[in-house]
Amino acid sequence: MVRILQIDTSPRHDRSHSRMLAREFMEKWSDLHPETKIIHRDLGLNPVPYIDATWVKAKFTPPEQYTPELASAIELSDDLIDEFLAADRYVLSTPMYNFSIPAVLKSYIDHIVRPRRTFAVGSGGFQGLVTDKKMLIFTARGSDFSPGSAFASLDFQEPFLRTVFNFIGITDIQFINANALNSDRRDKSLAEARTAIQDLTFCW
Ligand SMILES: Cc1cc2nc3c(=O)[nH]c(=O)nc-3n(C[C@H](O)[C@H](O)[C@H](O)COP(=O)(O)O)c2cc1C
Repeated sequence: MVRILQIDTSPRHDRSHSRMLAREFMEKWSDLHPETKIIHRDLGLNPVPYIDATWVKAKFTPPEQYTPELASAIELSDDLIDEFLAADRYVLSTPMYNFSIPAVLKSYIDHIVRPRRTFAVGSGGFQGLVTDKKMLIFTARGSDFSPGSAFASLDFQEPFLRTVFNFIGITDIQFINANALNSDRRDKSLAEARTAIQDLTFCW
């Protein structure tokens, strides 16, 4: 049985393009793979809080030395990591906000990128601990950041997400980027995304 953690991040609901594409993929995938277990984390509707000073102290404290205050500060992070590690695959949907990701997604990433849990630090440097997983990322952008476009070099979203998830060990990452959604090319862009969804339903 494959376990997929679906993470949605847009604060919009029915009007969100990134959610819509992830939902369409999950529906097609579930039809073909009914044994799939889906866990849904909705950061857009239920944001996780920002980390604070106590959390940072707990991050750098070995668990056996936690005070009750430190244990409490890091508890949500541990729960989010447990949920993350229990999945075999990830389907992440996100808008592009200000050339990158929404703050709710960055906050979530701050919680799950943790030494000893999702990466290790050794004499050879950093080592990702989240191995043998696959990730599929749906992005929605108002403008066009596709390769060769005028804004391509301003896409800090895909490079950031690749970097941070590579860092914790996830190297099999595919992007379906719906570009130019705030232009007359929206329908074409969504049609291209749907073609990619159709293909991935069979070969992901
Ligand atoms: C706060 C904010 C920042 C945005 N920044 C960008 C941006 O940098 N580049 C871009 O192409 N579109 C930008 N947009 C447009 C969104 O990416 C676009 O509307 C997208 O469809 C939103 O995703 P959603 O439909 O899943 O909610 C921004 C929208 C908002 C609300």
